[in-house]
Amino acid sequence: MAQVGLKEVSKVYPGGIAAVRNVSLEVGDGEFVVLVGPSGCGKSTTLRMIAGLEEVTEGEISIGGRVVNEVPPKDRDIAMVFQNYALYPHMTVYNNMAFGLKLRRYPKAEIDQRVREAARVLEIEELLNRKPKALSGGERQRVALGRAIVRNPQVFLFDEPLSNLDAMLRVQMRAEIEKLHTRLGTTMIYVTHDQVEAMTMGDRIVVMLDGVVQQISTPSELYQKPVNRFVAGFIGSPPMNFLEGRLKSEQGTLRFTSDMGDVALDVHDSHRAALEAHAGQGVLMGIRPEDLLENATQTPVPGRSLTATVEMVEPLGAETYLYLSVDGHSITGRVHADVLPQVASTHVIDLDLSKAHYFDASTGEAIL
Ligand SMILES: Nc1ncnc2c1ncn2[C@@H]1O[C@H](COP(=O)(O)OP(=O)(O)OP(=O)(O)O)[C@@H](O)[C@H]1O
Ligand SMILES: [Mg+2]
Repeated sequence: MAQVGLKEVSKVYPGGIAAVRNVSLEVGDGEFVVLVGPSGCGKSTTLRMIAGLEEVTEGEISIGGRVVNEVPPKDRDIAMVFQNYALYPHMTVYNNMAFGLKLRRYPKAEIDQRVREAARVLEIEELLNRKPKALSGGERQRVALGRAIVRNPQVFLFDEPLSNLDAMLRVQMRAEIEKLHTRLGTTMIYVTHDQVEAMTMGDRIVVMLDGVVQQISTPSELYQKPVNRFVAGFIGSPPMNFLEGRLKSEQGTLRFTSDMGDVALDVHDSHRAALEAHAGQGVLMGIRPEDLLENATQTPVPGRSLTATVEMVEPLGAETYLYLSVDGHSITGRVHADVLPQVASTHVIDLDLSKAHYFDASTGEAIL
């Protein structure tokens, strides 16, 4: 087990592609940290630099307190699991798992003991004599995990290990990896572009965009206090709604008015102090779909309700997604399963404005 530290790490690929810019990160001993962000944001590059598969252009990487910039991958005491499993097709499951240990000249008895123990943990004991092509995707993924586990590394690195699996199996394997983490207590760094995966698995989450870390937080803090517009829109499904507009002070009330149409919403008392200084300025208001509430009497409350045209209704059983149009703005609501309005009808929706987010219109930085 070990801490992993990145100090102002950058990677510029040949051709001048700046894939990772000035990333600093401390992963605690035994922690499960998830790197998440859209395609091309530098997640794999970051992970591959930790593994030693990619050279660091600038900055310092340490594992267990030791700077490893110049240490070759095989001496870093890490194990990596990839998306495509990278199993050896001509070897049995047993040999796939044993291979790395044989290379390192472990005694035969110890190899056997480690492989069988990993197979037991992953429930693949019956598969040990099969070749990869005779396995399902989920089984192959388990073997890839097994190959990492037998090494008993200080750190596990995962690069989208579940993205080749179907939705159900992915949820199951997610739980397996979490159990594995609890059981082994080993430091894990996990890359995914799936924010749901990140939210459910990580002790902490690192959100990246264009090679730059946007925010490092626990899942709940990331959800409740996104530091900028990008994080706010990236985390959460369906995504947060955004309205462009400005703050205006009118007769003692601080009010948000949208640029398009004439949505006017009162700033919640608890936000007023923080927002007052921004009166007269352009802001982006954000409200999550679950903070749209059905107005039971369909009577608009000035400053708090929206009158929306229903464009689409998605009943999901446990809840309903409403796709609404409000004065030319598209807004998504996530409401009680019983709320099933007619398409093209108008519908009054209240907003829980105590949950609203506000961002600087020009920088996208959170104001609250
Ligand atoms: N070997 C390489 N040579 C040049 N550019 C590269 C190389 N590998 C990656 N890049 C570029 O670096 C940037 C980051 O790539 P990276 O693979 O780290 O992204 P990612 O976040 O893992 O994306 P994905 O979710 O698609 O896997 C991209 O712009 C990519 O095109
Ligand atoms: Mg990648």
